[in-house]
Order: sequence, then C-alpha cells, then structure tokens
Amino acid sequence: MPAAALQSHPSVLLPPRLTQKSGMMHLLFLLAVALSCHGCPDRCLCSSQTVKCQNQDLDEIPHSLPNNTKILFVTGNNISRISVDSFPTGLKLLTDLYLSGNEMESVGAMVFDNMPNLVRLDLSNNKIETFSERAIPDDNKLQVLNLSSVLQHGNLSMLKVLDLLFNLINLSLQNSSIISIQNGTLKVPPLRDLDLRDNSLRYMPTTTLAEFSLKPSLHIWLAGNPWRCDCFVEEMLLWLKNSTQVIDMQNLTCADPEALRRQPLLQVESSQLKCVGDMEGVLETSYVFLGLVLALIGVIFLLVLYLNRKGIKRWMYNIRDACRDHMEGYHYRYEINSDPRLANLSINSDV
Ligand SMILES: *[C@@H]1O[C@H](CO)[C@@H](O)[C@H](O)[C@H]1NC(C)=O
Ligand SMILES: *[C@@H]1O[C@H](CO)[C@@H](O)[C@H](O)[C@H]1NC(C)=O
Ligand SMILES: *[C@@H]1O[C@H](CO)[C@@H](O)[C@H](O)[C@H]1NC(C)=O
Ligand SMILES: *[C@@H]1O[C@H](CO)[C@@H](O)[C@H](O)[C@H]1NC(C)=O
Ligand SMILES: *[C@@H]1O[C@H](CO)[C@@H](O)[C@H](O)[C@H]1NC(C)=O
Ligand SMILES: *[C@@H]1O[C@H](CO)[C@@H](O)[C@H](O)[C@H]1NC(C)=O
Ligand SMILES: *[C@@H]1O[C@H](CO)[C@@H](O)[C@H](O)[C@H]1NC(C)=O
Ligand SMILES: *[C@@H]1O[C@H](CO)[C@@H](O)[C@H](O)[C@H]1NC(C)=O
Ligand SMILES: *[C@@H]1O[C@H](CO)[C@@H](O)[C@H](O)[C@H]1NC(C)=O
Repeated sequence: MPAAALQSHPSVLLPPRLTQKSGMMHLLFLLAVALSCHGCPDRCLCSSQTVKCQNQDLDEIPHSLPNNTKILFVTGNNISRISVDSFPTGLKLLTDLYLSGNEMESVGAMVFDNMPNLVRLDLSNNKIETFSERAIPDDNKLQVLNLSSVLQHGNLSMLKVLDLLFNLINLSLQNSSIISIQNGTLKVPPLRDLDLRDNSLRYMPTTTLAEFSLKPSLHIWLAGNPWRCDCFVEEMLLWLKNSTQVIDMQNLTCADPEALRRQPLLQVESSQLKCVGDMEGVLETSYVFLGLVLALIGVIFLLVLYLNRKGIKRWMYNIRDACRDHMEGYHYRYEINSDPRLANLSINSDV
C-alpha cells in the first residue's frame, strides 16, 4: 500500500524529499524481513527451516508459519479438519509435511495448493472420512504418501485423489481395513513401494495380480492380512512363488480354514487348498445323507414291527401251531415205524 501511495504522488520523487524516500524504503524492507522471518508460532519449536508443533492440543494449524519452512511437523494434536484456510500463505520451500495423529476427519479441497514443492506427506493415524478429490493440486511433486491407519472402513474409493499423484513412488495404506484391491484401484504409474500390511485382505483378484506383474519395479508388503487358504487362493500362491515383488512373502499366513490357521502361505500345498463344493466335499455330504436315510428306514421298520406286535404274535403262534401239528404227524408216523410188530406187518404186507 505505501509503495502505491509513493508512486501516485510524483512530489515524493523530488530531490529534497529523497532522504525521506530512502527512509521509507528502509522501513518497508524491515517490515518485509519481519514478515518473512516472523517469529516461531506459539507452541512451536523452530530450528533452521524445520518447525515442530507437536502434542500441543492445537485444534488448528498454526498460522503465520515462517514462509521459508522446509519441514513442518504438526503431529499429535487435535485438528479435526484441514481446509483451504489451514495454510493461507505460500510455503514455497516446504517439502515435508507431517500431520500424523490429529484425530483428523476431513481433508478439504485445495488444502495443499500453497505448497507446490511438497514431496512427503504423512497423514497417518487419523480417522479420515472425507478426502477431497481436489485436495492436492494436479501439478504436484508428491512422492511419498503415508496413509497408514487412516481409513476406518477400508473404502479405497474414497481416495480418488490417488489418481492424480503422477509422481508418487511410495504409498502406505497399512492398517486400514482394506478388503480388496480391484484392478485399476491403484493407477499411480511410477509406484515403487506399496505397503498393504495389516489390512483385511482375504484374496487378491487375478486381474490385480496381473496388473502388479505389469509393474516389475513395484514392491509390495502384504503380511498381517487374514488370507483365506481355500481353492480361490491357489492363483495367488502360484503368483507368489513365481514373483519377487512381494517383499514379505515369507510372512504371509492363513487365517482360514481352521486346519491351516497360522500356516505360512508359501508352505501350503495345492492339494490342501479345498473349497466346499469340491468333489470330496460333495461325496462326504452324500455319505452322511445316505446314512441318515438308512437310519430313518430302520426306525420306521422297527416302528411298524412294534405297532403290529399283536398280529405278529398271532402269526408266530399260527406258525408254531402249524409246525407242532406237522411235527406231531411225524412223531406219530415215527412211532408206527418203530413198532417191530407193525414193521413186520408192513414188511409182510410189502411182500
Ligand atoms: C518470504 O516473504 C518475503 C516477503 O513477504 C519474501 O521477500 C521472501 O522471498 C519470501 N520467502 C520465500 C522463501 O518465499
Ligand atoms: C478435541 O477437539 C474436540 C472438538 O473438536 C473436543 O471436543 C475434544 O475435547 C478435544 N480433545 C482434546 C483431547 O482436547
Ligand atoms: C507411516 O506412518 C506410520 C505411523 O505413523 C509409521 O509407522 C510408518 O513408518 C510410516 N511409513 C513411512 C513409509 O513413512
Ligand atoms: C490400527 O488402526 C487402529 C484404528 O483403526 C488403531 O487403534 C491401531 O493402533 C492401529 N494399529 C497399528 C499397528 O498401527
Ligand atoms: C466409499 O466412498 C465413496 C466415495 O466417498 C462413497 O460414494 C461410497 O458410498 C463409500 N462406500 C461405503 C461402503 O462406505
Ligand atoms: C518407502 O517405503 C518403504 C516401505 O514402507 C520404506 O522402507 C522406505 O523407507 C520408504 N522410502 C521413503 C523415501 O520414504
Ligand atoms: C486392468 O485394468 C486396466 C484398465 O483399468 C486394463 O488395461 C488391464 O488390461 C486390466 N488388467 C487385467 C489383467 O485385466
Ligand atoms: C513366472 O514369471 C515370469 C516372469 O517373472 C513369467 O514370464 C512367467 O510367465 C511366470 N510363470 C507363471 C506360471 O506365472
Ligand atoms: C517377517 O516377520 C518377522 C517377525 O515379525 C520380521 O522380523 C521380518 O522383518 C519380517 N520380514 C519381512 C520381509 O518383512
């Protein structure tokens, strides 16, 4: 403002007032210096170009940060949201921004527009529910993004912002309840390190594996996921054994089924990977079914016998009587045959 005032008054440029002008310039210069290195914000520590405002219960980003700040820590505070107003002044030299552990729920549009040279951004240990697609400008230089313990419900589609990070080489999505990585979720081209540890992955779709294979320089961390070791994991197992991309593949373990629990995935044989619906399972269930049917038939048979016991008894008596009559007939004939007189008689009569 004062500079504009000077120019709009030609009289100020007259020789007698020269000293006054230089004095004013001096004042302006002092003001500029004061503005550029205005002291360290309250509750922060500044040393060279690093500013640390840690564990101070701050509920917003301190304003009036030195404009030559290179590394900024605002961690362990209570900042529930950041928006375009959080960084109102240019921080052209800022390369590293750490905002871990702030109970942060929302990241608004254009938050990082005032820091064109940002390379490392750490938003870990927050509870982000909304993350604006336009939070980070298109022409960013971001290379390392830490989103570990950030997502509550593993909703990766919330992170559309990832599609615009054309320089990203290091992405951590650790401990974020992620259930699946579909093909095309992680388009970021130059990605080199992808940390997916401690999520809720049970399978990795074949198309995603193929997509990973197309980026041979990509390294992936996958331990701490509850892999389900049934027939559907077989494809992934083959891929794992033939790939050098998964750095911690020795540490992957099965969570399911019970028989394979905590078994290292790499030590599971293909023959152990079974699915309900496999031939063996079908046979097993059909044997059980057959057994049940036979048991049921047996029970019905016994029941019929029991209900009809009188008839059966009578029938048995009848049979017994019939037998007795028959036997008596035999007995009688035997007695006749064994009587010698009758035998002689019969012999004589035969003759
Ligand atoms: C800081 O601000 C002052 C004046 O406002 C300016 O002269 C200086 O170049 C700025 N420094 C940086 C690194 O932007
Ligand atoms: C954090 O901020 C919220 C309001 O945004 C407040 O209710 C809560 O008490 C604060 N927590 C701490 C530990 O200061
Ligand atoms: C990401 O943040 C977590 C938690 O703050 C930390 O343990 C981890 O080392 C960080 N990862 C990277 C790549 O900086
Ligand atoms: C994982 O995230 C939960 C909250 O989502 C947190 O309580 C827990 O400490 C985190 N674990 C690690 C190892 O960071
Ligand atoms: C995931 O996030 C997207 C975008 O924010 C939203 O439209 C969708 O409803 C969310 N899905 C779930 C299951 O929360
Ligand atoms: C990138 O991520 C890996 C694995 O998380 C880590 O070891 C490495 O230090 C990270 N590199 C940078 C530059 O942060
Ligand atoms: C994955 O999706 C991309 C497009 O998003 C496609 O070009 C590629 O062929 C797909 N890969 C597989 C294996 O389906
Ligand atoms: C194993 O990996 C190589 C490249 O690393 C690939 O050419 C080959 O097709 C893979 N084999 C199988 C069975 O996936
Ligand atoms: C595997 O797990 C062990 C024990 O937790 C750990 O020391 C080791 O670094 C892990 N290996 C890899 C490659 O992450």
